[in-house]
Amino acid sequence: MMRTAMISLLALAACDAPARDVTFEERYRPLYHFTPDRNWMNDPNGLVFYEGEYHLFFQHNPRGDRWGHLSWGHAVSTDLVNWRQMPLALPERDVMIFSGSTVIDTQNSSGFGRDGAPPMVAIYTGYNPRNHVENQQLSFSLDRGRSWRDYENNPVLEGRAGMFRDPKVFWHEPTQRWIMTVSRADSVLFFASQNLREWIHLSTFGPAGEVDGPWEVPELMQVPVDGGGARWVLTVGVTGHAGVAGGSGVQYFVGEFDGERFVPDGGERVGATRWVDYGADFYAAQSWSGLPQSDGRRIWIAWMANTSYANEQPTRPWRGALTIPRTLYLMREGDAYTLAQRPIRELEQLRRVQATIAPREVAAGAAPLPELASLGEGLEIDLKFRVDQAGAAGLILHFGRSEVRVGYDARNGTVFVDRRRGGRFNAEGFAALHAAPLSASDGVVTLRIFLDRSSIEVFAQDGARVITDLLFPEDPFSGASFYAEAAGADIVHLNAWALAAMDRGAAQAK
Ligand code: FRU
Repeated sequence: MMRTAMISLLALAACDAPARDVTFEERYRPLYHFTPDRNWMNDPNGLVFYEGEYHLFFQHNPRGDRWGHLSWGHAVSTDLVNWRQMPLALPERDVMIFSGSTVIDTQNSSGFGRDGAPPMVAIYTGYNPRNHVENQQLSFSLDRGRSWRDYENNPVLEGRAGMFRDPKVFWHEPTQRWIMTVSRADSVLFFASQNLREWIHLSTFGPAGEVDGPWEVPELMQVPVDGGGARWVLTVGVTGHAGVAGGSGVQYFVGEFDGERFVPDGGERVGATRWVDYGADFYAAQSWSGLPQSDGRRIWIAWMANTSYANEQPTRPWRGALTIPRTLYLMREGDAYTLAQRPIRELEQLRRVQATIAPREVAAGAAPLPELASLGEGLEIDLKFRVDQAGAAGLILHFGRSEVRVGYDARNGTVFVDRRRGGRFNAEGFAALHAAPLSASDGVVTLRIFLDRSSIEVFAQDGARVITDLLFPEDPFSGASFYAEAAGADIVHLNAWALAAMDRGAAQAK
């Protein structure tokens, strides 16, 4: 009797446990953000959906936990939430395999397909560390990304010493050809091809917007407009120190693309730089190609780090995490379009215990919210509050000896994340407050917050402003308070959920 009970308990424990649950024991290991089992990761690459699987390739050093030996790591998921890491896809060879994209060549325009099966084609930058030449190269897979062959006539676009990188390719239906964006210095070059092997230069965009740092990882894509229709958006990473929160950041332009040339609204002398995310840790974002038409969403994910301190992040035995996947859409604000982001709805499957706080007035000062203390280290918080024009209000997230504030400052009209007392990571510029301009009508602010051991993502006003920041607190999450300066504030509603860890051994499609 005892024996049977013990055996079934063991069996239960074995099937409940994620295949590689040891990884969640590690300090700062995100519960529901993708991280490699071990070693270095930077940009997401080659994002493509094919035969029921979302593929995520990523810049990976299989030999160590700092940038180097760049290769493409690989993970697959059937729901964008639970990821299984696969064997290395494209290892470093005579060149490092820098960032790029992947397409399913359904018409076999490249000729790489066999027996009616379309090839999965990876288009990436080959970087030669000896002479610093960067050029664009192809590899292809006939077995859903499990094994790869390099194209024998690489490169398909010659380069010279210096940055010329990060090809993102998509099929342009109106002109029936492939379009590639590649960055060089402070511009984006557009190329076209019928077969992915031969490319012609179409046009060049830039300099424009923020150019005080080299441009990288460009992407041109159509993004749905809230309320109907779609527009073209060009996103570009700026590295160096010019990002909105210091270091690296992602800017964007909204405009028209006629198959040859991208023209931003207002022309290339566009006014103020538009930033996708106002935190320090959002870079090299890329969207999935190949989503079924019936899905209709544009979904992307970014490297959650800043190039200025990425190599020093205090995590082991891995270094590097991605954001949660987000749905993109455009919102009209005045006479311009704002690129907004919302967490993908698939994440709701991670919700477990819920805590609800009744509406209440909070006098100047801080009111503890004990209901949140026991939810664990992965949390989603949905908060709506009203703040008086005289001050700031929001949440204090406690991590034992550390704290992080998230709120709205009505005096200067900004939503912010303040990680100045957030922990022990001493990299230059890390301890800072990151703010995004936001005019809250009637002082009412809504925040959707995703907290996960070593990161926070704040979606304000239904995704109109986003702040993504890494956190390395002294102690694990220990509870929250609502605080208000000056005249006080009202909590209109507050729901919070404990979020479960992803299943890192999740089944792949059959
Ligand atoms: C962006 C980036 C890309 C490059 C890759 C190299 O973080 O610098 O421009 O392809 O990383 O790892």
